[in-house]
Amino acid sequence: MTDTRDPSRYAFVPGAPTYPTIVGGHGSFLHTADGGRILDGAAGAIVGNIGWGRAEVADAARDAMASGGYVVPLWPTPARLELRDALVDRWLPEGFGHVFFTSGGSESTDSALRLARAYQVAKGRTDRWKVIGRHPSYHGMTIGTMAAASHTGRQAGYEPLLLPFPKVPWDDPEQVLKVIEQEDPATIAGFIAEPITGAAGACLTASDEYWRVVSHACKEHDILLIADEVMTGYGRTGTVWGHQQFPMTPDVIVGGKGLGGGYVPMGAVAATDEVAEALRGSGFMYFTFTGNDAACAASLKVLEILEREQLIERCRVMGELLGVRLREALDGQSAVRDIRGRGLFYGIEIDVSRDAVVMAALERGLWVYPAGSGPVANAIMVAPPFVITEAEIDQLVGTLRESLDAVG
Ligand SMILES: Cc1ncc(COP(=O)(O)O)c(C=O)c1O
Repeated sequence: MTDTRDPSRYAFVPGAPTYPTIVGGHGSFLHTADGGRILDGAAGAIVGNIGWGRAEVADAARDAMASGGYVVPLWPTPARLELRDALVDRWLPEGFGHVFFTSGGSESTDSALRLARAYQVAKGRTDRWKVIGRHPSYHGMTIGTMAAASHTGRQAGYEPLLLPFPKVPWDDPEQVLKVIEQEDPATIAGFIAEPITGAAGACLTASDEYWRVVSHACKEHDILLIADEVMTGYGRTGTVWGHQQFPMTPDVIVGGKGLGGGYVPMGAVAATDEVAEALRGSGFMYFTFTGNDAACAASLKVLEILEREQLIERCRVMGELLGVRLREALDGQSAVRDIRGRGLFYGIEIDVSRDAVVMAALERGLWVYPAGSGPVANAIMVAPPFVITEAEIDQLVGTLRESLDAVG
């Protein structure tokens, strides 16, 4: 008989590490089945911007479920309309009047690749299929998004399945121009970029000049510039969108994680009116769960909480404090190579195994996120819920220092 207390049976892949069973959460903490508390220094997978235990989000989802169930994605419902209006009227930049809902980050980025192709085909440019990605980068785990990204660890072994999309460095504007010329702009449909890299680069941040050059080249050649804001969106960097911190002018904005706040699987792809107009009559296909009513209702409540509690401003202020405390505690620690980030979105590049540090932190009651690929061999990310307090930041930083010291 299976031992019902043994959490290791949850692992899909035999031999994967065993994690504590989580039975709930509140604010910045997760509650374990054995009565312990874990400080959630990464808001799960950098998802829980509003923190945990928000019963009003559950109430909103419950009401949507209890009053109906499922409606074909193309038909409007009050929750879908309200969420669309909230995003267009209060969250998206001027000119982004069109939103396509999905069930998460990968579905959103994959849809954006499809959208770039559909846009070019609609304009009669059927030779344009390539979507340029950056090295390093991460855009999700569909076959399409793996091909557009450069995350060697997560791509390993799948290479024959991946389209040969061109790659440019994350930081070199001249190389970007060179690759566009070499590939021939008449074959390029889009350019996808995280405004600040997440899982692959642990907050690598390109110069303003880089974004000026990328934005200009994309405009010049009518290459759709896709901002992958799955991690950086919905306030994580201290502004609503990460790209707003740079001279970056996207045509498409992709979000996920923070929109559902971790409570519901939710994503959204927003396009400018010009891009959406080109798709008229294209029959852009939806997913079965595009605009799931409970997910829309819950996301609407997540946005309301962010606004009502002014959590993005709080993220900016607490992020400054986090940056100061991280540097005070970790500068000079022998394994630390670099500390970078903004808002509540920090990457710490290290010389020791990230998995060892993550496990050492977990043993001490702290969760931090493992990251890094290519030029960033080992890193961890610190990205707590926006409700984190000053005392909790001190606890986070102190525990992280102890964990790094324990590893080496
Ligand atoms: C920038 C970025 N894009 C896309 C994704 C994929 O999102 P999901 O895991 O929700 O499918 C992630 C996930 O970490 C991400 O960080």
